[in-house]
Amino acid sequence: MKKIWLFILIGLLFSCKNETSIKKSVSPKETETSSVKQEQKDYNKTGLEIAFGTKKQLGKNLISQLNKKGTLDALTFCNVKAIPLTDSMQTVYQAKIKRVSDKNRNPNNKANNDEVTYINQFKEVIKKGEKPQPIIKKTQDSVYFYYPIVTNGMCLQCHGKPNKNIKPETLKLLSNLYPNDKATGYDENQVRGIWSIQIKK
Ligand code: HEC
Repeated sequence: MKKIWLFILIGLLFSCKNETSIKKSVSPKETETSSVKQEQKDYNKTGLEIAFGTKKQLGKNLISQLNKKGTLDALTFCNVKAIPLTDSMQTVYQAKIKRVSDKNRNPNNKANNDEVTYINQFKEVIKKGEKPQPIIKKTQDSVYFYYPIVTNGMCLQCHGKPNKNIKPETLKLLSNLYPNDKATGYDENQVRGIWSIQIKK
């Protein structure tokens, strides 16, 4: 009888703060690991949903601009709209969404040290032709989610080899908008950067 009250008390103490810690204190080891696995799966799903949702938004807008107006206008559109678009997805998903790169075009999209490490890991995976799995890291208050952004043929007109894939007039506009642009020289099927998403627990 006493034990039950103790559990209820512990339960009440932790219930608004952290659900998993109750599970940890009461459940046997096996259920614990399976619940951790389930949690991992849920974050995996949310992370991918955000990454693909944002990608779809950005992609849809980019493709329609490319079709309607051509590379130059799409580029100006990308430059102006990319950040507000990711911002609007952030409000939808209550998460912090970044698109970062080791060879960034926009100075705001520069990968930090951790992110560079993950980009290099994804490069290995893509080079081997394997399907990338999201990388998930947890801290006390957040879950961090990383997933690669890979190039296809369409990207090369703005991220490919200067003068070969990128037309001179595009190159000129790029260097005006981004004097420190590092985001050229890519081929198809290369890691252009990663989604870096922070979900508050
Ligand atoms: C019409 C030109 C254009 C095309 C096509 C294009 N991009 Fe970009 N990309 C840009 C511009 C401009 C930026 C900088 C946006 C900004 O200022 O936030 C950018 C930024 C990015 C970034 C953010 C990191 C950074 O370097 O600043 C990633 C990742 C990216 N592009 C990936 C891609 C991929 C993958 C494709 C193909 C599916 C693609 N882009 C196609 C013009 C383009």
